[in-house]
Parts: sequence; C-alpha cells; structure tokens
Amino acid sequence: MKHRAVKRRSVVLGIGATAGVAATGGIALNAQASSTSSSSSSSSSSPSADALVFDPDAFTELTTTVTDTDGDDHAVTYHFWKAITYVAKPVDATYQSLNVSVPVEIDGKAVDASNAPILFANSVGGYMPSSVADATGIGGGGAGGAGGAPSGAPSASASAPGANGDTNATGGSLATNQLLALAAGYVVVEPGARGRTLKNSAGEYYGTAPAAIVDLKAAVRYVRANKGRIPGNVERIVSAGTSAGGALSSLLGASGDSPLYDRYLKEIGAADASDAIFAVGAWCPITDLEHADGAYEWNWGANVTQSTGEVVDQTVSKDLRSQFAQYQASLRLRGRNGFGPLTARNYDTYLVERYLEPSATKYLAALSDSGRESYLAKNTFITWKNGRATFTWDDFLTHVGARKKTTPAFDAFDLSTGENNEFGAGTTANRHFTAYGARNDTTGLTTRRVASDIPEKLNLMNPMYHLVEKVNGRRSKHWWIRLGTGDSDTSHVISANLAARLDNLGDDVNHLYYWDQGHGANTDPGDFITWIAEVTGYRAGK
Ligand code: DHB
Repeated sequence: MKHRAVKRRSVVLGIGATAGVAATGGIALNAQASSTSSSSSSSSSSPSADALVFDPDAFTELTTTVTDTDGDDHAVTYHFWKAITYVAKPVDATYQSLNVSVPVEIDGKAVDASNAPILFANSVGGYMPSSVADATGIGGGGAGGAGGAPSGAPSASASAPGANGDTNATGGSLATNQLLALAAGYVVVEPGARGRTLKNSAGEYYGTAPAAIVDLKAAVRYVRANKGRIPGNVERIVSAGTSAGGALSSLLGASGDSPLYDRYLKEIGAADASDAIFAVGAWCPITDLEHADGAYEWNWGANVTQSTGEVVDQTVSKDLRSQFAQYQASLRLRGRNGFGPLTARNYDTYLVERYLEPSATKYLAALSDSGRESYLAKNTFITWKNGRATFTWDDFLTHVGARKKTTPAFDAFDLSTGENNEFGAGTTANRHFTAYGARNDTTGLTTRRVASDIPEKLNLMNPMYHLVEKVNGRRSKHWWIRLGTGDSDTSHVISANLAARLDNLGDDVNHLYYWDQGHGANTDPGDFITWIAEVTGYRAGK
C-alpha cells in the first residue's frame, strides 16, 4: 500500500531558538490521561509472525523547510511512516508506536539515507505518557497522546517552574534536533512510550516504572529487527531526550541488552533483537532518583524555595545532605581532567572549575564588548580577567536564586511528586522509593518501608546501576550531556556524576553546562548534529 501525498510545511528554526521559556502548559499531578485501550486488551491481541515487519512502502511523502543554526533554509523532502506499533502484544498502542522520517531530497539533491545514523528521539516529559500517533509529520509527538498537548513547536523548549513533579512535555527542543537531523540527511525515529498516569478500567497503573524504558527498548529492538527495511544504519542509533526523556535516553544507553528487562520485553512481544544503542544525547537528565534527594539538598539546600520564598526544613535538608556525602563516597569517582576523588566536600570546587566558570566564560566571550560590560555590571559576583570568568560557588547559588522544589525533592513525605507516581504499582498511584521517604511518610501509611519490588524497579530505572554496580559492556560509548546552569529541577551533580562515571570507564563524553539557561534548554543543537557525524563517521552521500 502506497500513500503518496505531498504536503508542504514550513518549519523555521531560528538561531538559539531553543533557549526559551515554557511553551507547554503544566500537567496536573496525577492527571489521568485518556487511553483508548487498557491492559486487559493485551491478552486478546494475537501476535502474528509478521506483526513486527516494517512495510517499506507505507509512507507519505512530505516536504518541509528547515532553517539551520546559521539561519540558512533547506528544503527537505522526506518519507514519513506514521504510528507503527512496535510490539506484538501492545498494552496500549497509542503509546507503543513510533514514527519514522527518512530524507530523500535536500535542497533539490537526492539523498540516500540507507546507511545514515538513526536519531532515536523520544519526547517523554515528566515521566508522563508520550504518543506520536497523531503527529502529522516529523517532530509532532508529545505528551498526553491523542488530544494531548502539542509539543512539536520547534522554537520552544520547556522551562517550566512549578510545584514538585508538576512537569511538562519537552518535545520542543527535541523537535529542533529532529529537524536538524533530517536536514543533515539522517533517519529520524520518534518512539512513543507509556507513562506514569495511564490507568486501565480496573484502576491499575500500567505506565509506571519500568514501562517507559521497556517501551523504548522494544522500539529499538523493532528498528534493529527491521534492518534493511527501515532505512538507516541500525548499528548507529543515537538516542535523544530531555529531562525525564534525558534520563530514559541515558538509561537506554547504559543498559543496552541487559537481561534485567527480558521478562518485561517478552510480556509485550518485543522483537527478538539487540536493544544496545551506539550513542546518547541527554539534556538535563532527571535521573539517579533514589539518590537525587540528597544531591538536591547538597546543591540547593540553602536556597529559598520558589513556591514559598523560604528555606526548606533544615533538619530534613541536613539529613539528606549527609546521605549524599555517603553516597558520593561510595561511588569512588574521580573528577575529569585529573581532578582526583570527588567528594561532597570538594564537589563545589569541581563544578565551579570544571563546568560553571568555563560555561560563563564561553557565554561572556561571545557577547559584544558592551553586552559583556553590562552583564558584568549586573552580575558583580563574576570576576572577568584575561578573558576568563571566575566566581565562588556560594555566589553562584545566590545568582541562581530560588530552588524549584521543596524537600525531599523527589520522594516527598506526602507522596506528591511525579516520581512517587512513577514508582506507583497496581492500583496504588504513588509510592515511596527511598527508606528515608518511607520512614517519614505523612500520608498515614502503616508500613514505613519501601515495598519489596522497589529495589529492582530502581535498578531498572537508573543508568548509574548499569554503570557502577553492574558495569555493562554493551553500553553506549559516546555521550552528549547538557544542562542549564539555572536548572534546579535536580542537582547539578546528577549529570556530573553520570559524566564522571562514564569518563572513568573510558567512554567518550561531551558534557557542557549552558550558562544561565533553565530546564529543558538546548542551545547548541547544530553542534549535536555535527557530533553525531563525528562519532558515527558518517558523511552524507559517501
Ligand atoms: C521532569 C522535570 C522534573 O522536575 C522531574 O522531577 C521529572 C521530570 C521533566 O521535565 O521531564
């Protein structure tokens, strides 16, 4: 069956267009997403042997204009495959489906993408459900699924202050990656995935941990199993995601082919193929969740909270900070570039010297003389000398100002965060996932311990587990990690620990902080596209 309709869309990507503020509305905590099917429907579906065979002919031909980061327009004709269910036994096909975009002509020249890298771009935000089923072209996926918030607006990126866990889709910045990748001649695969709020008619949550990562792995397996039918080089899959999507992107890279997921993948009828990927792009990953409360207090403990204008309970903050010190010591990480052992005591110096000052320096160096002068006049905590910015950690914290979250930031005593919901199970919407959170529960639970399935769920969701406790040889070896310096959705050490661990393992890590940028920023998407060419060795047309 051939669908050939030529549609024309114009998509304009301005320079730096991604460094923006919220474009998507807040999604209320625990809001119920509507779904078209429930988990009970899975037993009635009959997987056929060829259910997972991609039909190379079932595309629509679309045309779009992509403005690159230099401001140049490119006319791109591409083939678009829509809403392909990637598992044989879907629990909810609205989410367990992917779209494929393959460029065939760029600026009037035919392109052959049959051996191009594959950008595997999820649009998960807030651990919420994400669907591509209603997209009308590349970059159109997002949270909420059918009828959900459109998140493909390429000029937007998410930066959404709000209460704990009150999060947004982050598809905006990713749409930029996707469009630029297409215009560079790469194949783009956009998978949907189940998310934490999905509930069936029996009141059971079927999108909580580990559903999203299981789905993304199943989608990778589907792409691999269809080698030669889906254009592109299945050995050069590069994952991308932002925030919760960045966490899942890192996890996908860290946990490639881990047997830990086998039973979950079998349950949904995933293709029998490898789910290891070549490289990872992760923007502001909200990960290492069971250690994130301590890391958060270590980082932002003294800052006032956005919602109240006051500092959080300092007893709780101090408890959590000491938990972080222990955790950090247990990791036995060495800071990059010969910094030596990383501890709770020297991590401030490490962040300042290794990431924050270079970030500010780069930002200031790119300003005009007068622009720089006026920035420095407003930000007197920065010393600018010999083309270099220096400042103290304490002054940096004051500069960032109010922290976004209360305490504990992730495993809230009142079970109110998105992460509490992410670790929900069965008919229980929200659960504790740390001993400290469970012990201090304020919701009247009689059991003050985490449930017995939680430790395994945490391992299934945490890239650090696959890099530290069970070092996975099948992990990605190329990593692009980015974080805004003003992002207090999690601690700055979360990305830095991930990067240090990968570096210590000998992987290729490209990790920068974007100066003065908030949550979801992606201010160098063109560099990411170039990096993909570098690490994959791909040259279009060669
Ligand atoms: C996201 C943001 C958060 O603050 C969080 O706790 C989890 C996810 C997000 O934007 O995806």
